[in-house]
Amino acid sequence: MDEQFNADVLIEALPYLRRFNGKIIVIKYGGAAMINEGVRQSVIQDLILMQQVGMKPVLVHGGGPEIDRMLKKLNKEAVFVEGLRYTDDETMEIVQMVLAGKVNKDLVELFSRAGGKAIGICGSDGGLFIGKRLRKNGQDLGLVGDIQTVNTEMIRTLLDNGIIPVVASIALRGDEEGGFYNVNADTAAGSLAIALKAEKLILLTDVPGVMEDKTDLGTLIREMDVQMAKTLMKKGVIKAGMIPKVEGCLQALAQGVSAAHIVDGRSPHSLLVELFTDTGMGTMIR
Ligand code: ARG
Repeated sequence: MDEQFNADVLIEALPYLRRFNGKIIVIKYGGAAMINEGVRQSVIQDLILMQQVGMKPVLVHGGGPEIDRMLKKLNKEAVFVEGLRYTDDETMEIVQMVLAGKVNKDLVELFSRAGGKAIGICGSDGGLFIGKRLRKNGQDLGLVGDIQTVNTEMIRTLLDNGIIPVVASIALRGDEEGGFYNVNADTAAGSLAIALKAEKLILLTDVPGVMEDKTDLGTLIREMDVQMAKTLMKKGVIKAGMIPKVEGCLQALAQGVSAAHIVDGRSPHSLLVELFTDTGMGTMIR
């Protein structure tokens, strides 16, 4: 062990510990990055550490792979339209069970095992998310929604009491029919970061960040401004699954969030490296 190195790491963290004290950080976690149990534990530890040093982390999660697994068990086919899950009534019921019932509670269980205090909620708790029906390029997606209103009262109560909120990405239907909408977790995290006036929005994904060439880690873009992000989208360097993520980041930045980060959630403690070192390890957009 190199003691001097350890000391250097802590000293490098000092300005960030100071700067982010008391600040709300919204972290989105989901997809393939969430499958591995060991990695999941390291993400949870990172959030507990963040809270311990005075930050206010909020975790928003999806759970696509778990939903697919359950659909398969029930012999129900997963249907995607324009890259989004077509959600009929029965699928919505399964999404609710898996996200709010299983994935959410499993994450909370990991927190308690690691000595943290977390409470798992979904969009209906405290009227957190009210949605409206989403159509993509005029196509019907069933019960897929976009978030229309965010009521942050419940989240603030939890944060003020030293509790980490763990939020499943489903929203209330804001109409007489009632029930739920399935909402994209990246979008939900973005809307929540805006409503909470968060310092940061961090998307934990299963790629190292925005890269000019997906196969070459050397082309990772560590930092960019909004203009550059827009240019890269126009040029097609930012493409496919990365587009909605970057768009979500840009929206958050346009509405008061100071920085948005796209970080590899598969790499252990990537959150800590991103937050508490100068170079970070993913892509930061400002
Ligand atoms: N730790 C600092 C922050 O969170 C800097 C992070 C830099 N990260 C990057 N990908 N360039 O603000």
